[in-house]
Amino acid sequence: MKLKKIAAVFAAAALGLSVLAGCGDGGRTADPSETANPGFAADSLIGVSLPWLGTQNWKEAMDMFGSELEGAGYQAMVQSADNKVPQQQQQIEAMIDAGVSVLVVAPVDGSQLGSVLEKAKDAGIWVIGYDRLIENTKAVDAVVQFGSIKTGEVQGQSLLDGLAARKGDGPYNIELFGGGPADPNAPNFFTGAMSVLQPKIDDGTLVIVSGEVDFNVVATPDWSNQKAQVRMDSLLAAHYADKTIDGVLSPNDGIARAILTACEDAGQPVPVVDGLDAENESVISVWQGIQWSTVYKPTDKLVAETIRLINILQKGQALPAGNETAENGSKTVQVFALEPVAVTKDNAKEVFANDPERLALLV
Ligand code: BGC
Repeated sequence: MKLKKIAAVFAAAALGLSVLAGCGDGGRTADPSETANPGFAADSLIGVSLPWLGTQNWKEAMDMFGSELEGAGYQAMVQSADNKVPQQQQQIEAMIDAGVSVLVVAPVDGSQLGSVLEKAKDAGIWVIGYDRLIENTKAVDAVVQFGSIKTGEVQGQSLLDGLAARKGDGPYNIELFGGGPADPNAPNFFTGAMSVLQPKIDDGTLVIVSGEVDFNVVATPDWSNQKAQVRMDSLLAAHYADKTIDGVLSPNDGIARAILTACEDAGQPVPVVDGLDAENESVISVWQGIQWSTVYKPTDKLVAETIRLINILQKGQALPAGNETAENGSKTVQVFALEPVAVTKDNAKEVFANDPERLALLV
């Protein structure tokens, strides 16, 4: 298969197409997205590099990429990197050596894959960012994700709606949490949420009792639920001995559950907490009236969108423009963004109508 690909590259070169053109930047191969696309064999090997399996969405992606890529006629090499940058770099190197035609990459750290992905480009491999942006390199052709700013806006709005629904009139005492700072989604989720919350902080409806509002202070290293719980324990001990906490902004479901556990341990009434991923445990919690909401970003849709792009590339066609763009520090990246949806007990049956696994949890 590697041979087939090499043959295709030579065939294209013989036709005068500039597959290997562009030595202007130190002999590096031109970005294939800016050159003719010779396509690749319909049974090519596709590499998928995931950051870790610590949240349900990545486990789903691991399974679905394996089965859906094979279902589409490709061979699949799907790996996850245990949240370790060097491990992800090595896995991607091995995928390049194995002769993949496309690399689908969700980076552990958005800005640490430049050199290995530039190597992939030199080998004529397409690079698609999956769920997370790939930063500070030209070696990315497109990103598929649920709009990350939009996701944060949905989270912030859901927190406000939950406070109004459950906690009467304000002002409300709240705290803020962000995701793992190495993940480019995390600051974007936070920016999106703060665009909704800041006006309510400014007008006094929301009171951040700890005063901790800076992303770098509220971020949760490695998206670790345990680290989030430790921070929530200390916030409660330091600031809420004589106060009730009404709500907490949470970047995902695992962190939401950690926050809820800390509040329960501190003897607080259940605060309004949003989430992300519609993880089974949180869907159950929402249905039982504990976690206020989650945000649904169905993995099957994101995997299907990725495979749609792979099929376009396989046929030798040019990628269309995305419906959004993102500046990654080196180039403007085309983003194929899907819509995230807030889920509360009220709309859960409707939102999960076509997701039998989650629907079955609503009993
Ligand atoms: C994903 C979330 C996930 C988080 C931690 C983010 O990049 O968008 O779905 O919860 O990583 O794994």
